[in-house]
Amino acid sequence: METRTLLCLILFFCTFLHPSLSDSELCHPDDKKVLLEIKNSFNDPDIFVSWDPKTDCCNWTFIACDDDNRVAELVVEDVDCDLVGPIPPEVGDLPYLVLLGFADCPDITGTIPPAIAKLNNLQGLGFRNTSISGPIPEFIGDFKDLVTLQLSHNSFSGSIPNTIGSLPQLHFLDLSYNQLSGPIPGTFESSNKLILIDLKCNKLEGDASVFFPPNKTSIFMIDLSWNLFEFDFSNVHFSRLTLYVDINHNKIYGCLPWGLTELVLLIHLDVSFNRLCGEIPQGGNLQSFPASAYLYNKCLCGEPLPPCYHPNPKVGFI
Ligand SMILES: *[C@@H]1O[C@H](CO)[C@@H](O)[C@H](O)[C@H]1NC(C)=O
Ligand SMILES: *[C@@H]1O[C@H](CO)[C@@H](O)[C@H](O)[C@H]1NC(C)=O
Ligand SMILES: *[C@@H]1O[C@H](CO)[C@@H](O)[C@H](O)[C@H]1NC(C)=O
Repeated sequence: METRTLLCLILFFCTFLHPSLSDSELCHPDDKKVLLEIKNSFNDPDIFVSWDPKTDCCNWTFIACDDDNRVAELVVEDVDCDLVGPIPPEVGDLPYLVLLGFADCPDITGTIPPAIAKLNNLQGLGFRNTSISGPIPEFIGDFKDLVTLQLSHNSFSGSIPNTIGSLPQLHFLDLSYNQLSGPIPGTFESSNKLILIDLKCNKLEGDASVFFPPNKTSIFMIDLSWNLFEFDFSNVHFSRLTLYVDINHNKIYGCLPWGLTELVLLIHLDVSFNRLCGEIPQGGNLQSFPASAYLYNKCLCGEPLPPCYHPNPKVGFI
């Protein structure tokens, strides 16, 4: 993968314009027609003012073309986004799209249109901070090249489709701030490429230990906070490269695994508001986090919380 593309996938909404070296029309007429239909179905919004039929569509804002001058990116991110209504199905008629994203457009409504299933070259798909609702479509699991799926800050409901867990190239999964419910599909057991998982602020439940398997070395950031997860944390495993672990506000029980002391890169840990018990393992970075990272559990004790056994029984446990 090209470095520029990889960077864009990681940062996701870092759209760039393909440098146009000639004044002549580069844009493929089929793509231009589709983009103008999209503009039309959003009723000529101000943010598409550069989408002028007389100019090269590879030079329009939010668009980038590939080396064959086919539209490869449609990534709309603008603080003044004035797009109103549903995503038009014409988006599915840009067959060379690699990145598709809409961000910070609170008046985009409706569901993800089924026509998007046609875009099977997608490496990045993002709807962030819109009013899109309904389920996460199963067909996303057919995008075999998908590296980034960013669906945070919307109103998606229902459960996470099984098919997402089997995406062979998925590195970044951000479903935070939605209304998702139900369990984590077992298919995530075979997802060996996940680097970042953010499921914060949903209503997901049950066992999430599938994200902490033995012998997996990829995950470096995981945020499961503010859900209804309920599983034993005692025997979970971590990648040595883990930077960030947040499980606060769940119903997670058991004790904190010793493996946490081996994570020399860990810069954020929050296990507060769960049902954990026993001594906080002493070592690694674990004592560098504030007490608030451990508070409001069933009976966690030891640095940075008070000692597990206090000689003065009147002080006792926290
Ligand atoms: C691209 O658009 C910019 C302004 O939006 C313009 O200055 C430039 O000449 C255009 N380039 C081409 C090749 O059309
Ligand atoms: C969502 O988008 C609106 C409009 O651009 C913006 O004011 C708001 O801060 C964004 N919210 C988040 C969580 O990014
Ligand atoms: C993990 O790796 C160890 C040794 O490298 C091996 O013995 C063990 O079976 C592996 N476990 C799993 C679940 O793959």
